[in-house]
Amino acid sequence: MRSLIDIKDLSLAEIDSLIETAEDIMANPEKYAEACKGKRLATLFFEPSTRTRLSFESAMYQLGGNVLGFSEAQSSSTAKGESLSDTIRTVSNYVNIIAMRHPKEGAALAATMRSEVPIINAGDGGHNHPTQTLTDLITIKLEKGGFDGLTVGLCGDLKFGRTVHSLISAMARYKNVKFVLISPEELKVPDYIRDEVIIPSGAEFEETTDLVGSIDKLDILYMTRVQKERFFNEADYIRLKDIYILTPDKLANAKKDLAILHPLPRVNEISVAVDDDPRACYFKQVKYSVYIRMALILMLLKEAEGK
Ligand code: NCD
Repeated sequence: MRSLIDIKDLSLAEIDSLIETAEDIMANPEKYAEACKGKRLATLFFEPSTRTRLSFESAMYQLGGNVLGFSEAQSSSTAKGESLSDTIRTVSNYVNIIAMRHPKEGAALAATMRSEVPIINAGDGGHNHPTQTLTDLITIKLEKGGFDGLTVGLCGDLKFGRTVHSLISAMARYKNVKFVLISPEELKVPDYIRDEVIIPSGAEFEETTDLVGSIDKLDILYMTRVQKERFFNEADYIRLKDIYILTPDKLANAKKDLAILHPLPRVNEISVAVDDDPRACYFKQVKYSVYIRMALILMLLKEAEGK
């Protein structure tokens, strides 16, 4: 049974094909309006979400399918002490595919061992978030025409930001990509990302605390929120939360065709004054996310049916 737990579960050819399907859906939505007729998606969200859950639901409805699920652990039997394993074993009887978000790293992978249907990891703790990466990749493809040779700056909470980890894993597979990792010392990328993903890929990278001093070399600037819910200590969060705030003046030396991405939600790290800059792509990401998730649901359901 094919699931999507880590972005590396998809080959580069499959990523290309998902992006192509998403573009076709955007151009010809009517062609897909009944593609998932009679199919059901469960969205099991044990952690808060606006975009990920609702875009999955919108995706399934636009494919003519149905959706059921819960949006907080408290409204499910988890609140009574049910294990994740039993919840998944149960729900997989009701639906054809499950998208789940959970605060524990590895939860989605664990779920695949109990599920009768494909699992899509919609975020597991501070670990991975592969469907946000698909959203980021389609945005980069449409803005930049491809992936090879790009210099990608990632800024903010590179330690706990799961979207950062998945995006680095994806981009490190393309040719001549360079990473500029911009964070305070305390929020640098985890060692396993540096040592097991970036270094073996051969991609050039640098780690710096300086956003303004690095901005001129970037093709992509991926801003992130400091992940409050993953801090052990509130004082550390308060000290670090506003460390990078992208404002129009800080873009003075940036390339004219820089693409500014953010997985959202934004807290303070991009001033609203940047939203009108043509380089701001974060609301385009929101739009593309539905189409790429439609393409993914189609692919996994097709494979599950052995077609
Ligand atoms: C991200 C997440 O949940 O990791 N949000 C999203 O899915 N678009 C980023 C975040 O919460 O900061």
